[in-house]
Amino acid sequence: MAKTKFHTSYGPFACITGAGSGIGEAFAHALARRGLNLLLADVDEAALDRVSQTIGEEHSVAIELFVGDLSREDDVLALAERALLLEAGLLISNAGVASLGPFLDLSLDEQLKALDLHCRASLILAHRLGGAMRARGRGGIILLSSNSALLHTPLIANYAATKAYTLALAEALHMELKGEGVDVMALAPGMTETAALQRSGLDYGKARALIRRPSEIVEEALQALGKQPSYISSASDRLAALLLGRLLPRRIGLRISKAVVGYFYPAIEGPR
Ligand SMILES: NC(=O)c1ccc[n+]([C@@H]2O[C@H](COP(=O)([O-])OP(=O)(O)OC[C@H]3O[C@@H](n4cnc5c(N)ncnc54)[C@H](OP(=O)(O)O)[C@@H]3O)[C@@H](O)[C@H]2O)c1
Repeated sequence: MAKTKFHTSYGPFACITGAGSGIGEAFAHALARRGLNLLLADVDEAALDRVSQTIGEEHSVAIELFVGDLSREDDVLALAERALLLEAGLLISNAGVASLGPFLDLSLDEQLKALDLHCRASLILAHRLGGAMRARGRGGIILLSSNSALLHTPLIANYAATKAYTLALAEALHMELKGEGVDVMALAPGMTETAALQRSGLDYGKARALIRRPSEIVEEALQALGKQPSYISSASDRLAALLLGRLLPRRIGLRISKAVVGYFYPAIEGPR
C-alpha cells in the first residue's frame, strides 16, 4: 500500500487504549483503514482478541495487543515502553469508565480509579510518547474528554472533572507542540452508542435523537486532528457549552445542567 500523508504523519503504529469496545474499537478500525499498524490496549483480553481478529480479516496491518489495567501506573508505564519500541506515531488515550450519581454516594475507590485512568494514564502516555514524537518531529495525540467536561456537570462531578483535565491538557499541548510537528487534540464526544452508554441508565426514549455512532465521531475527530485544539462531536453540546458555560452566570448554567442530567438519567437518585 502506498504511504498516505496520514501514514507519514502518524505511522507506523497507533497506540489505542480502551480498544476492546466502543469508541476505541472504532478508532482501531478507522486507523487500520488508513494503513496504520495497531497497538491495542484494554483490560478485557477477550474483547481485544475479538477486535484484533475482525480487523485482521479486513486489513493487512500488524496488530499487537496489550492486556492491562491502565488505572495502574505500572501497567501504563509498561504500555508506554511497548509503544516506544514500536515507534508509535499516534496515541489515542481513550480508555474510560463512567459513573453517574450524587458524588457522596459513589464509591471513593471507583472515583480514584477513574481519576487514575483518565488523568494519570493520559498524562503518562502523552509525556512518554510525546517526547519521542517531538524528537522525530511528527506525531499525533488525541485525549478523550467528554461533553460533561464543558459544563462541570453536577451528578457526574468527578467524571466530568477528570474529563476537564484531559480537555485542558490537550488544548494547552496543542499550542505547545504545534511548532514541533506533533498534533494534539481533545475529543469531547456527546452521547455515543457504546456499551458504556447502554450501562449508564440513560433514558433512550428521551435521548434517541442526540445519540451518534462511534464510527461517525471517530471519522470527524481524525479529520479535525492537526486543525483544532479540541473537537466537540455534538452540535447541541457546542451550543450548550456556549450558552450554559459562557453566556449565563455560572450558578444558572450549573442549575440547568443538573436538571438536564436528571431529565436524561431519571434513575439517578439525589437531591434535585
Ligand atoms: N459513549 C459515550 O457516550 C461517551 C461520551 C463522552 C465521552 N466518552 C469517553 O469515550 C471513551 C470511550 O468510551 P466508550 O463509551 O467507548 O466506553 P466502552 O464502550 O466502555 O469502552 C471502553 C473500553 O475501555 C476499557 N477499560 C475500562 N477500564 C479500563 C482500564 N482500567 N484499563 C484498560 N482498559 C479499560 C473497557 O473495558 P471493560 O468493558 O472491561 O470495562 C472498554 O473495553 C471514554 O474515555 C469515555 O469516557 C464516551
